[in-house]
Amino acid sequence: MSVAKKDYKRITVKTLVDMKANGEKISMLTAYDYTMAKIVDGAGVDVILVGDSASNVMAGHETTLPITLDQMIYHAAGVVRAIERSLVVVDLPFGSYQSDPKEALRSAIRIMKESGGHAVKLEGGKEVKESIKRILNAGIPVMGHLGLTPQSIYKFGTYTVRAKEEEEADKLKEDALMLERIGCFAIVLEKIPAKLAKEVAESISIPVIGIGAGNGVDGQVLVLHDMLGMTHEFHPRFLRRYMNLYEDMTSSISQYVKDVKAVDFPNDEEQY
Ligand code: KIV
Repeated sequence: MSVAKKDYKRITVKTLVDMKANGEKISMLTAYDYTMAKIVDGAGVDVILVGDSASNVMAGHETTLPITLDQMIYHAAGVVRAIERSLVVVDLPFGSYQSDPKEALRSAIRIMKESGGHAVKLEGGKEVKESIKRILNAGIPVMGHLGLTPQSIYKFGTYTVRAKEEEEADKLKEDALMLERIGCFAIVLEKIPAKLAKEVAESISIPVIGIGAGNGVDGQVLVLHDMLGMTHEFHPRFLRRYMNLYEDMTSSISQYVKDVKAVDFPNDEEQY
């Protein structure tokens, strides 16, 4: 369906629900710092996710597990300072919400107070239901995340497609309904069959944002550094690269090195 894009001045959680109701697809990208967030916001992306993928992309860890709450707040505060229009959603990192609902609420409050983010995202279904309820009761919007949940990578063992089997697909559908029922404003579905993702999106009224979940959902999210081609060792089928910044940056930086060595930089106009 082709739908005229409304000119939303500021995206709120309510805007996203309205977008779904109006059939307008939602765009979401990650950002972890001021400079990138300014570009992403200015380009008209609806939702900026300060993802715990910062653990991989910004810090070079193998998984998302090591990033701390303090580090997430640092990244999110820079993003919030940059934005004029986008909704900023901040990931609750591993270990900041799983142990008990009170700790989950304390972590979410720290994110909201210290970074200025607009909502939090956390991974999981019924296992974290009480934590989500506690956060929602404090007036903090929550985005769910089902399917491949990278904070559980050691339980899964691999980053392959989730919920291909009926049992896991049924649990995912139940979890999605539960997340809607208790008041989440949206759900991310990561790396699951497109048919299942479409079925989930059609069964609930809150937006479903997919990554590796096909085009039958209400919006898409990608990791910014992947879609810009800054990372180049990661080739999942779902990733579309819009640039090849790895090559462009490498050749520009090599040229700079050559210019410095040849005393070509700075030239007469580039000095005082
Ligand atoms: O941390 C992240 O970047 C994410 C997206 C992959 C959805 O959770």
